[in-house]
Amino acid sequence: MPGLSAHAAADLTYDFEDGTAQGWGPRGDGVTVTATADAARTGTGGLLVGGRTATWHGASIPAPFARGVGYDVTAYARLVSGQPAATIAMTVQRTPTGGSTTYERVAAATVTDGGWVRLSGSYLFTAESADVQLYVESSDATGRYHLDDIVISPQGDPTREPITSDFEDGTAQDWASRAAATLEPGTTAHAGTRGLTVTGRSASWDGPALNVLGRMGKGDKYALSVWVRLGPETPAGRLGLSIERRSGGTPSYERIVTPKEVPAGEWVQLSGTYTLAYDVEFLSLYVESDTGTFPFHLDDFTMRWIEPKPVQTDIPRVRDAVPFTMGSAFTRPDTLGVHGELLARHFGSLTPGNELKWDATEPREGEFTFTDGDYLVDFATSHGMQVRGHTLAWHSQTPAWVFAGASKEVLLQRLETHVRTLVTRYKGRIAAWDVVNEVVDENQPDGLRRSPWYEITGLDFIRTAFRVAREADPDAKLFINDYNTEFPRKREALYDLVERLKAEGVPIDGVGHQLHLNIEHPPASAVEATIERFATLGVDQQVTELDVSVYTDFVSSYDTIPAELLVRQGHRYKELFDVFRRQADRLGSVTVWGESDDVSWLRTWPIPRLNAPLLFDDDLQAKPAYWGVVDPSRLAPLVRRLEAPAGTIKVDGRRDLEWDLLPDAPIARVGNVSAGFQARSSAAGLYVLAEVTDPTADQADRVTFTVDGTARSVGRGDRGVTRTATGYRVEALVGKGTDVDVTVRDRGTAISWTGQVTAVPAIRLTSAVRRAAPVLDGVVDRAWGAAPEIRTATWIQGSSGATAKVRSLWSGSTLYVLAQVADPVLSEEPANAWEQDSVEIFVDPGNGKTKGYEDDDGQYRVSFTGRVTVGGTFDAGGVRDKVRAAARAVPGGYVVEAAITLPTITLAEGTLLGFDVQVNDAVGAARTSAVTWNDATGRGYLDTGHWGVLRLSG
Ligand code: XIL
Repeated sequence: MPGLSAHAAADLTYDFEDGTAQGWGPRGDGVTVTATADAARTGTGGLLVGGRTATWHGASIPAPFARGVGYDVTAYARLVSGQPAATIAMTVQRTPTGGSTTYERVAAATVTDGGWVRLSGSYLFTAESADVQLYVESSDATGRYHLDDIVISPQGDPTREPITSDFEDGTAQDWASRAAATLEPGTTAHAGTRGLTVTGRSASWDGPALNVLGRMGKGDKYALSVWVRLGPETPAGRLGLSIERRSGGTPSYERIVTPKEVPAGEWVQLSGTYTLAYDVEFLSLYVESDTGTFPFHLDDFTMRWIEPKPVQTDIPRVRDAVPFTMGSAFTRPDTLGVHGELLARHFGSLTPGNELKWDATEPREGEFTFTDGDYLVDFATSHGMQVRGHTLAWHSQTPAWVFAGASKEVLLQRLETHVRTLVTRYKGRIAAWDVVNEVVDENQPDGLRRSPWYEITGLDFIRTAFRVAREADPDAKLFINDYNTEFPRKREALYDLVERLKAEGVPIDGVGHQLHLNIEHPPASAVEATIERFATLGVDQQVTELDVSVYTDFVSSYDTIPAELLVRQGHRYKELFDVFRRQADRLGSVTVWGESDDVSWLRTWPIPRLNAPLLFDDDLQAKPAYWGVVDPSRLAPLVRRLEAPAGTIKVDGRRDLEWDLLPDAPIARVGNVSAGFQARSSAAGLYVLAEVTDPTADQADRVTFTVDGTARSVGRGDRGVTRTATGYRVEALVGKGTDVDVTVRDRGTAISWTGQVTAVPAIRLTSAVRRAAPVLDGVVDRAWGAAPEIRTATWIQGSSGATAKVRSLWSGSTLYVLAQVADPVLSEEPANAWEQDSVEIFVDPGNGKTKGYEDDDGQYRVSFTGRVTVGGTFDAGGVRDKVRAAARAVPGGYVVEAAITLPTITLAEGTLLGFDVQVNDAVGAARTSAVTWNDATGRGYLDTGHWGVLRLSG
């Protein structure tokens, strides 16, 4: 086996050099065992065995063997001169508990008086045993012999031993071809002087494989790493690490490292972890490409067992710390080892993450498979936990046959059979079912997702699924489950649907809020507003898939997640659980989507990246997120950050337009009090705003602003404080400074915001004028003359190049933007649209200034030839198809006219849009500069937070 590490425990050596018998003694009456210098194989000491009268007589020692550990045993023997040849053997005698004494041969050899003979063998016992003896006997009952250099080496557990392949010995070191590929040791090396060269691959999955059967233990986790490089003629390619396992003859393929870009000429490390969750008869690691059969090099492979940290038993159980049922999603591997312990310890409900979905339960029509489903349901119930069933009808993870050629009747019949079969099978064992999943699309006029379910049956699939589920198990609670229900538009679309179906008598018991959130957005108050809204429908509510991604976009990726971010996540969990506790009457359960970060689906969705969205870390230890849920007093204090744009405010308790350029930073609710806070920097000092929600006025109500240690307190009844619909507003001018605390007091409670305020440039503001729709042809009509002109002058790449003069109009629900670009040299050569000569228009209908994009935030790009591309959220579902544009070349540049419809808001005089414009300048195949109107961060494509503002005027 390649590169086995040093053994776990040291070898025991008996060399008799100290002149003693080193613990060996006689076995049998009259036997003598003497240390002697007469006959030594090495050094000057050996053992002489004499006085024997039976074959089983000889030298023995209490065996230094531990139960369950294998040992290699070697010894050297030689007969005393003049003795006839005999078989010398090493044997173990032991007495198993409750059994009779056994004698087991370890090694034997024919020995003469002519020279030393090596005896070697291995030994392992597994049953509890007493009186374990190792002894040396001879077939010649009276024969005398010498012994020397007896070595007992504990064998490592092969599932714990690392494997390394460095190919430095010029062999393939047990790597073998999966199919037709040729593996040759070569001199292209990551380290040292040799590596493995892989050529002649017949398919993307063909290449080098390593048999690791017996080297991974079930439930054990391994860290794997290998370095790869493309073959010399290959300009680009993606390589990854996979594993094939077979159980009961059926192969399964899993990706350990999703194929990733390997730039030509560079060594790239593929590293990841793998937990073996099944009994297998075949187990093979291999490197594959996502497509293509290009040659590549491989070097420095390692596989290491990760010793699990014990589950913490000195911290409270999450389920004991909350006033509702606490659940987790889980999959089959999570039931093993420490993951299983963690689940059993902290949760009172479990949701199979994949095993009850259609693709898992009915892969072919009428062929139901419940092996994994049953196993998981049994795991949960045998630990006294409830089970949530997830999910009966969904557009995803549903086999193609379900919809193939289906009329409405056929599809509903298939659905009925499926629902009836699953719900009947788990009747009485699954307390709540997600009957339909993700059926709402707030960007459709009727709020319904255009899935095959909907396209073929309209709403009838929902009606059928609920009806049949109720028939099959009248006691199960039936849920409609969806994500983004905390966003107002989706919330309302789901609300309308549930209201309508309930009015019809569809047996919907409850609404499941998935709650896949991120570190910044949306605020806990939006979650609370959703729970309060659905409470008016009189339905049960559950949080079904909670996690908090550390990313606000779908492209960024950390190598290590900053500790500060995990603390922030802890405070975010605290605020969420404050909401859940407050709303406990309405919330039957809260389920997190996985028990520990290492098993989170966000490690692969929407892209493979390090993410840590859950309560326990990769080692299953409690994170700040856990403490945020269980005991927030254990959280490190949070230093929040806020930008104070340059600005001047009239301090009169009226909300100036300037404040509306940004949203208020939330100060989370305690009791009935919450607030929003903002600041503007000026030469005169810091202007501050607090919008307080506090329905009951009393003497204690006040807001205290403390800047660099100097406090300024304003009472609710003070002059300049304004009453609002839900509480009161305070404005003040306080001293300049960066360390800011805002504390809002009510009788008995206080909420606060503590952090650092940084002065930044003013937010640019322009306006769009209401006019009849211009013709989109790149010709500058007279109507544009009415709109104010802005210019791009904020360089985010380079310091000179193409720029634009920009004007905006609006009409109905459409925004029109004109960009007159000065750019004498035009190029569409770069591969990426954003590197070609183009204009980008950024629009945020809510002016939410969120980190990350909301569903209706868009980046609309028009190239100088009029080609349109769009950026937005992951699927850009809310902004695709919302833009039309024309472009026309003119002397010295080009003109772009774009029309962007904004169906998610009603445009009116006074509406504020988050808005920005960027000009990309290409020369040849590269972008050489980029300039915006307002956003200086260069991150406008990921983050709407630094765009300027466009105000609609009459
Ligand atoms: C996810 C699982 O966790 C992944 O293992 C699987 O690859 C994809 O589905 N919303 C849902 C869940 O309702 O079913 C999804 O689960 C996560 C998003």
